Amino acid sequence: MTDRDYPKIVVPPPGPKAKAVVDRDAAWTSHCYIKEYPLAIARGDGVMVEDIDGNRFLDFMAGIAVASTGYGHPRVVTAIQDAAANFLHICGSDFYYEGMAALCERLAKVAPGPTRKRVFLTNSGTEATEGAIKLARYATRRTAMIAFKGAFHGRSTGAVSLTSSKARQHAGFGPLLPDVHHVDYAYRYRCRHCADKPACTNGCVTSIENDLFARHLDPHDVAAIFVEPIQGEGGYVVPPPGFLRELRALCDRYGILLVFDEIQSGIGRTGKMFACEHEGVEPDVLLTAKGLGSGMPIGAMIVRETVDRWQNGAHGSTFGGNPVCCAAALATLDVVEQGAMANAAVQGERLLAGARALMEKHPCIGDVRGVGLMVGIEFVKDRATREPDGDLVHRIVELAFSRGLLLLGAGKSALRLAPPLVIDAVDIDRGMAMLDACIAEASR
Ligand SMILES: Cc1ncc(COP(=O)(O)O)c(C=O)c1O
Repeated sequence: MTDRDYPKIVVPPPGPKAKAVVDRDAAWTSHCYIKEYPLAIARGDGVMVEDIDGNRFLDFMAGIAVASTGYGHPRVVTAIQDAAANFLHICGSDFYYEGMAALCERLAKVAPGPTRKRVFLTNSGTEATEGAIKLARYATRRTAMIAFKGAFHGRSTGAVSLTSSKARQHAGFGPLLPDVHHVDYAYRYRCRHCADKPACTNGCVTSIENDLFARHLDPHDVAAIFVEPIQGEGGYVVPPPGFLRELRALCDRYGILLVFDEIQSGIGRTGKMFACEHEGVEPDVLLTAKGLGSGMPIGAMIVRETVDRWQNGAHGSTFGGNPVCCAAALATLDVVEQGAMANAAVQGERLLAGARALMEKHPCIGDVRGVGLMVGIEFVKDRATREPDGDLVHRIVELAFSRGLLLLGAGKSALRLAPPLVIDAVDIDRGMAMLDACIAEASR
């Protein structure tokens, strides 16, 4: 394909303009920002990101799985412009506007399962998690929470207490929320429960009952189990079939609420609106954010009507469900439902097949997994020992950036491939060819 003018590197990034921004940023922004690599964006179009020096990149990470409709989708941009021209704010916790009612209705109807839902809108994923923690305690009058090792649920004090991704996300912030228990995720490649078995036996779920509940924690003290149907920051880990169903059954046995954090996996990314639909399991609370607004800050807590029983005024937000963000979300849902989600399913197969082909070729790849446009490639020093190779991931990401491909790591030693949902086969193939060359060079 010759008519695509990306990737195109005109000056090795960071070029002079990007360097100036990086230096200025380094002088004034908080020390806590990670800053993966020196990408200083000027604009984007579809799956292309252009930096301020004129370099053009192919985006395989969508601003951490956010730019669901790509950059500058005309329907989303027009919706934002129209809403902004009308009014920027009135406060949806206290007053009314059509966009908020329409978005809540739409999310309630699109959420999986037969039960009626109600929706609370937030500014971020973290706030959706935080709201779910409060609601779970309120609705059950219980305090304990279960989450999974490797989980990422956000950074506020409550949400980060459920997060178990990197120790530095907890260091210095304690004491965190009490009574949070982290258990093993269904991480087939690194599972200590079913490692010697030919197939997963859901040992991680049964151990909650046989170990945690038997020895440490009365299940009737547990308000909720928080789980990502596909672990995001943990390494794009896809649990074997049955995991979510077993968790649902466990929660039902003890009156525990099941909360699905689909902040990264939701809104069409896996080829269905929510990843849990692949398993046909309905949670009590469903969290979403990231891709919902195509980049505008909006998240949602979608709750079974029977659980949404907190009293008037118990929770709220000044900005949550901002009218411009609601407009962006409604337009995003249009684009997702009218093609992007189906495209994610088709292109996801291609991406996964491409990743599997890379695994055949490169011994440094230990595992490949994924659903839709959420594909993880795990790198190891040795396939036999499965020792993670995080440095290699780092080198691949840097090299890809220098050549015009935007990548992002996840977990200890995985690459997450999460392009915008509107990507086509040509760009999947071009990105995978670039990745192939980067792996070959970085692992040499
Ligand atoms: C699964 C999951 N939950 C929660 C969050 C937190 O969302 P936010 O960064 O919008 O607060 C993230 C962000 O990466 C996430 O991936």
